[in-house]
Amino acid sequence: MSETKIALVTGANKGIGYEIAAGLGALGYRVAVGARDEARRESAVEKLRAAGADAFGVPLDVTGDRSVTDAAELIEARAGRLDVLVNNAGISGEMGPGWVQDPTTLDLDLVRTVVETNVIGVIRVTNAMLPLLRRSPSPRIVNVSSSVASLTRQADPDIEVGPIMAAYAPTKSYLNAVTVQYARQFAGTNILINAACPGLVATDFTGFLGPRTPEQGAATAIRLATLPDDGPTGSFFEDDGVIPW
Ligand SMILES: NC(=O)c1ccc[n+]([C@@H]2O[C@H](COP(=O)([O-])OP(=O)(O)OC[C@H]3O[C@@H](n4cnc5c(N)ncnc54)[C@H](OP(=O)(O)O)[C@@H]3O)[C@@H](O)[C@H]2O)c1
Repeated sequence: MSETKIALVTGANKGIGYEIAAGLGALGYRVAVGARDEARRESAVEKLRAAGADAFGVPLDVTGDRSVTDAAELIEARAGRLDVLVNNAGISGEMGPGWVQDPTTLDLDLVRTVVETNVIGVIRVTNAMLPLLRRSPSPRIVNVSSSVASLTRQADPDIEVGPIMAAYAPTKSYLNAVTVQYARQFAGTNILINAACPGLVATDFTGFLGPRTPEQGAATAIRLATLPDDGPTGSFFEDDGVIPW
């Protein structure tokens, strides 16, 4: 088996996902750059290679069954296994006036769209990649979540938690809950799975308004992607440590 570890990052063409790919590439991982748009994907691969990373593009729309099974086949052909899966691709869904998603007026199709990408997409990709991950001696799965998923923080009036995002935030709570179910299923195996919050990061997602850089946002996911065998599983982290559910 090749010594070089293989990582797939979804939504790796820009933002936090790109920086996770770059960070893993700098650590010597061979990086599969999952992205749905060909031009954006190839430009990210070029940029990563120019920075010295061993990167290759993987066409991947997390909402498409066929796209995801084709991606798994491509990675199997190119690399034979996976050591790391970072489920980073995510959307907020359209925001209402004042950058709020008001629960009392939510468009149900918007809710379905965000769940499809942020939750079902992660389950679809994880299950398609699992046969490849199981070939690794130390598989790591990272689900990029958000501190807005923390019901403990959202329900505490004394904690500043930002605007109401009634479509987006619950999808990340759902994702966290799914992460725990996977961790239970993987108990006793070598697979570690955790959720990561990047903090408030200046990307397309936030209209480039966050105080953190994408590189800073990538740090926790990279740490969880490279955990030692005795590392944690089934938990939820930000830079400062564990986030309460
Ligand atoms: N920015 C923040 O402050 C913040 C805070 C907490 C959590 N997060 C989470 O961090 C992750 C990355 O966000 P970001 O800030 O880097 O946002 P971003 O710059 O908008 O990047 C999102 C990435 O996801 C991809 N994507 C969206 N839908 C996809 C699909 N169906 N299939 C494949 N790829 C898809 C996008 O691809 P396209 O270019 O093709 O659209 C893009 O590469 C998300 O899960 C987000 O929820 C972000």
